[in-house]
Amino acid sequence: MTHPGRKVKDHYFYQAKREGFPARSVYKLKEIDQRHRLFKPGDAVLDLGASPGSWLLFASQAVGPRGKVTGVDLKPLSGPVPANARFILADIFTLGLEDLGPPTGGFDIVLSDMAPQTTGIKITDATRSYELAHTALMVALKHLKEGGHFVAKIFQGPDFPNFLAEVKKAYRTVKAFKPDSTRRESKEVFVVALDKKRLSE
Ligand SMILES: C[S@@+](CC[C@H](N)C(=O)[O-])C[C@H]1O[C@@H](n2cnc3c(N)ncnc32)[C@H](O)[C@@H]1O
Repeated sequence: MTHPGRKVKDHYFYQAKREGFPARSVYKLKEIDQRHRLFKPGDAVLDLGASPGSWLLFASQAVGPRGKVTGVDLKPLSGPVPANARFILADIFTLGLEDLGPPTGGFDIVLSDMAPQTTGIKITDATRSYELAHTALMVALKHLKEGGHFVAKIFQGPDFPNFLAEVKKAYRTVKAFKPDSTRRESKEVFVVALDKKRLSE
């Protein structure tokens, strides 16, 4: 069994270091983007669970200087905030949604790579992960524009089918995806939801 705190330094870890990203998790977002073409230049992106900052950096490069990325996390970023980004140090459960400063018309993309501090007790970890993913979904329901995309990490557990069903109500295309760069023993899966429906649909 893998110890909850143990982080094996695999080739993704060293590749991230070489390429200037603070964490190996960047390759998960890269794989998702390669498959689903999430980002367009000029997009406004909300990145929940942004620290240490790999997804924030990748997204800020993908949307370019006309785009804007807003990151939120309990912990600070490990490096500087990119020029087209802002960072809010906050808990998603208590952050006022208006504090996100949503752009007029809403964000184009809402990402959540949020993960709870793991305990090693699978059911507890999965329940906490569901609560984070569900909160991200609520934020996206309110602040993602029609036609926008939502990506959220969740640990598979008893609430996973409910989460998938909730997401399917609001998006036209929904896929559960386990990137190659996710460790084999990990329970995490990414729900990729494309093309948000009109709220009355
Ligand atoms: C796997 S890391 C994210 C890695 C990040 N996407 C990157 O590429 O650098 C998960 C993050 O979720 C954050 N997180 C967990 N619970 C949170 C909460 N309630 N509010 C905001 N962030 C939270 C953690 O602090 C942690 O930094």
